[in-house]
Amino acid sequence: MNKKISSLWISFLMSLIFLSGDIHVGAYLGINWGRTATQTFVPSMVVDLLLQNGIPELRLFQPSLNVLDAFADTNIGLAITLQENFLRNVVEQKQMDDYIHERVKVYSDKGVKFRYVYVGNEPFTKALYMKKQFNGTIRYLNMTRDALDSFNLPDIKATTPHFTDVLINVTKPSQGDFREDIKEKMLKFLDCINRTGAPFVVHIFPIYTVYRYGFDVDFAFFDNKSKFKIIDGNNTYTNLFTFIYDTLVSALAKAGYGDMEIVVGQIGWPTDGYVSASEANAERFHRSLLQYISRKDGTPLRPNRDIDMYLLGLTDENKVATDYGPYQRHWGIYKHDGLPKYKIDFTMQDRDVKPTIAKGTVRMPNRWCVFDGKTDHNETLVLQDYDYACGESDCTAFGTGATCDHLSFIEKVSYGYNMLYQMSNQDQRKCNLLGATITTNNPSTPDCDFPIEILTAEVVDGGSTLTKRY
Ligand SMILES: *[C@@H]1O[C@H](CO)[C@@H](O)[C@H](O)[C@H]1NC(C)=O
Ligand SMILES: *[C@@H]1O[C@H](CO)[C@@H](O)[C@H](O)[C@H]1NC(C)=O
Ligand SMILES: *[C@@H]1O[C@H](CO)[C@@H](O)[C@H](O)[C@H]1NC(C)=O
Ligand SMILES: *[C@@H]1O[C@H](CO)[C@@H](O)[C@H](O)[C@H]1NC(C)=O
Ligand SMILES: *[C@@H]1O[C@H](CO)[C@@H](O)[C@H](O)[C@H]1NC(C)=O
Ligand SMILES: *[C@@H]1O[C@H](CO)[C@@H](O)[C@H](O)[C@H]1NC(C)=O
Ligand SMILES: *[C@@H]1O[C@H](CO)[C@@H](O)[C@H](O)[C@H]1NC(C)=O
Repeated sequence: MNKKISSLWISFLMSLIFLSGDIHVGAYLGINWGRTATQTFVPSMVVDLLLQNGIPELRLFQPSLNVLDAFADTNIGLAITLQENFLRNVVEQKQMDDYIHERVKVYSDKGVKFRYVYVGNEPFTKALYMKKQFNGTIRYLNMTRDALDSFNLPDIKATTPHFTDVLINVTKPSQGDFREDIKEKMLKFLDCINRTGAPFVVHIFPIYTVYRYGFDVDFAFFDNKSKFKIIDGNNTYTNLFTFIYDTLVSALAKAGYGDMEIVVGQIGWPTDGYVSASEANAERFHRSLLQYISRKDGTPLRPNRDIDMYLLGLTDENKVATDYGPYQRHWGIYKHDGLPKYKIDFTMQDRDVKPTIAKGTVRMPNRWCVFDGKTDHNETLVLQDYDYACGESDCTAFGTGATCDHLSFIEKVSYGYNMLYQMSNQDQRKCNLLGATITTNNPSTPDCDFPIEILTAEVVDGGSTLTKRY
């Protein structure tokens, strides 16, 4: 299709989306698209998915040029992330200016609708803070803002998303405050985003918090099935989300920013890798979450408000870090092969529908690499190969409460062998493990899927200035 027609067509689709929903006035619903996976959807497929499903906003983790190209003239709002591997090398303002010119200014002129530039990701998170030793956030935030201003892009806001563990543990939201060890930096951060009109972006993982606090797991859903409540003065919390949100509101108020805008940059429910992580619970979570958002209930401290949110996430990512737990590789509403896992109505009209299938993925042939199960192999060596296969691939479907936890030892070895084989694009040399054999009989069990890889030939740019176009 020629470029003009295709952008006309896209504008038409977008106008349908916006006409079909008075719902969007005020709050918006976006989605995160992470690409830390062996194979990823190509950008044009994602544009198509967002348009078909009526999702108006996307958060990206790398400002890759080929991805930005696909969003020109789409009217889909983008939040991009400047990665730490880029930021670490920025010494002077000119480097930042050049990067913002290349990745934002040029594409803004081409019709990409940028909403946010995120400067790093969760720099004060406890699990990673000591490990990462990333100290430059406020300086880089300042440089990013100055660069955007120098290109006259005042509507694109610069901020940095934070995980809920920047907050202290509380029993009531009114006790909310920021952690002592980061408070000084957080105050400087808040001063900068307040001065420049940017929101506080928070990442909320209800499955993590509900277990960390030892609450009833039903409290994480919005359907009033839980008897558990938290009473705080005149306010009653029947739901984990409002509890966390108001804890943040209290922390911001104590810091002097009681009215600061809050955007939920990530929220979702994983389908594997943890107790209660399942497709049924993910469907239940999202259904009740979207009903809650469209009712515009707000929270006890901020009643009757729209809350902007980005769901986590579009697809599973089989190579993403698992610092909080194995479930982090299973946030996807879509499977890696483009099939939606469960029902969700992104337009917030509570229809009983599955999202559209991602068009354009090609599954590799139905071949699996499995362990032959013969007993005459040296068990120590089999274990070694199994550990190697899992270490190089992804065995997060094992572990308490996960879908492949119940497999026998022989089946687990097969699973590990197969994951390595699939994640290497069915390279036969990767099936050269003790007792390994290639089969066309699907070894999956009713609960545990032995996946087949897809072909997309998409290389993911790490966000460095050195990586250009592919
Ligand atoms: C960051 O700050 C910590 C604590 O002040 C310090 O120990 C560390 O060396 C700093 N890291 C870098 C890369 O400057
Ligand atoms: C960044 O820091 C410089 C130097 O301190 C200051 O002049 C400028 O106003 C700051 N910009 C922002 C957006 O805070
Ligand atoms: C909150 O509680 C959890 C679990 O008990 C603990 O690991 C964490 O360090 C606590 N956080 C703070 C800021 O005290
Ligand atoms: C935050 O920004 C608002 C609007 O510019 C301003 O009125 C307020 O004083 C600022 N708050 C602080 C604590 O600086
Ligand atoms: C849950 O209960 C609260 C308080 O009783 C009520 O305001 C709210 O509408 C209920 N929500 C649902 C989804 O039934
Ligand atoms: C709770 O509500 C009562 C009655 O409306 C009011 O007098 C009181 O000040 C409120 N308490 C708090 C902590 O807001
Ligand atoms: C299995 O292999 C290990 C490591 O090579 C070796 O030490 C062990 O003796 C072997 N066991 C048997 C029963 O052959």
